[in-house]
Amino acid sequence: MADLHVAILAAGKGTRMKSSRPKVLHRVAGRPMIDYVMRAAQSLSPKTTTVVVGHMKELLRQGLGGHAGLSFVTQEPQLGTGHALLQTAGVLERQKGFVLLLSGDVPLLRSHTLAELVSKHATSGAAATVLTAIVEQPYGYGRIVRVRGQISRIVEERDASPAQRKIREINSGVYVFSLAPLFEALRRLAASNAQGEYYLTDLISTYRRRKLGVETVVLGDPSEIRGINSRSELGEASQIVRQKKNEELMAAGVTIEDPATTYIDEDVVVGGDTVIHPGVHLEGRTQIGQACEIHAGVRIINSVLDEQVTVQNFCVINGGRLGKGVTVGPFVHIRPETELRESVHIGNFVELKKSIVGKGTKAGHLSYLGDAVIGENVNVGAGTITCNYDGTKKTQTVIDDGAFIGSDSQLVAPVTIGKGAYVGSGTTVRENVPAGALAISGGKQRNIEGWVATRLDKTRPKKP
Ligand code: UD1
Ligand code: CA
Repeated sequence: MADLHVAILAAGKGTRMKSSRPKVLHRVAGRPMIDYVMRAAQSLSPKTTTVVVGHMKELLRQGLGGHAGLSFVTQEPQLGTGHALLQTAGVLERQKGFVLLLSGDVPLLRSHTLAELVSKHATSGAAATVLTAIVEQPYGYGRIVRVRGQISRIVEERDASPAQRKIREINSGVYVFSLAPLFEALRRLAASNAQGEYYLTDLISTYRRRKLGVETVVLGDPSEIRGINSRSELGEASQIVRQKKNEELMAAGVTIEDPATTYIDEDVVVGGDTVIHPGVHLEGRTQIGQACEIHAGVRIINSVLDEQVTVQNFCVINGGRLGKGVTVGPFVHIRPETELRESVHIGNFVELKKSIVGKGTKAGHLSYLGDAVIGENVNVGAGTITCNYDGTKKTQTVIDDGAFIGSDSQLVAPVTIGKGAYVGSGTTVRENVPAGALAISGGKQRNIEGWVATRLDKTRPKKP
């Protein structure tokens, strides 16, 4: 087959989003919408990929920094979709083959559909092939006007007659063009329409007049070609993506108690027999093992949970690794670079950051454990704090296997608590504690007999 190139239009202003950020970087189910377009395009292994940028182009280039091998061309000012494609002439005019034209704001297209479109274009020998769909609500889209079954032109909503507005076959804005006649035809486009723009869609009638072949592929599932122009359409697209994800997971043996309030990003993996309660968010590259239970109101971001992990209500877990049989929560905050090994128990109101917690260790209540390396079977009492920050730098706390940290202790880093050592309740540990030792700080307790009565006497207002 001839060479395939991809061009993506993303220069437009996206006025209806009412945003100070580029429209195509707004997220659909957790990922920038243009990311979906990129992935679908890359699945066809094109020879080149060119993105047409204009409005907020620096932000957009930054946002696309993660994708290798892209060419950017600038369209300034933005005079319409035809004018936008013309800007790729510098990259594509000397190339051979076809260009698949995509819009940065049409994220739900499947790669299978694109492959079908390219293959129809290649086998029919047409100069242009348009992806169309028959929809219930054609409002806002360009309409496909057919004469004796053949596509004859595309007419935009604003330029359409009342009869044309009733046509339910719409233009998806996705096309394949043969490069040979393309740029010369684009240069001849006129801007004689309601918006005074150079419409790419006018190429269709031009080609038909010049007896160049124009083909269509009509889509079975029109939800794929939804264009996103407003926040409301953004929400709808996210809902479609999430619903699909939830259904895939349920089909694979995951229980989702309330799919309508469960938000699982596309790249998340969940093992069979895991139960997900309402109001849960699983984000980014999170992986959840088999037979886990994720209770209501939990948010898990870029984390890995082994099997049989229980996360009680209202925890935030970001960048954590939780081993088999771990239990956390309710109200636990796990921050990046934290690893909880097998059977660890972390109870309510505990925050962990950049800490490794060994097998079987428990921290049941109200603690901050940051920059800590904690061994196996350690008991961290209620209210234990690792004081890891001295105002300029962070330092480490090490707690060896089997140690017992009494409640309300402060471990002032850098400090090491030896194997099996005890720290008495309320101790401020500033020096290393040897293995097997007991550390206690503070003086001996003093009781002042009768203190309450004398104090009350002094503070009580005197009666006149
Ligand atoms: C366009 C089509 C319409 C189709 C619809 C599908 C035209 C004239 N109309 O309309 O037939 O049904 O898409 O979603 O092509 N862009 C630029 N530079 C510009 C103008 C637009 O790069 O000067 C980019 C936009 O950023 C966007 C894409 O082209 O990614 C489509 O532009 P938009 O203004 O959204 O076109 P629609 O009115 O939706
Ligand atoms: Ca659009």
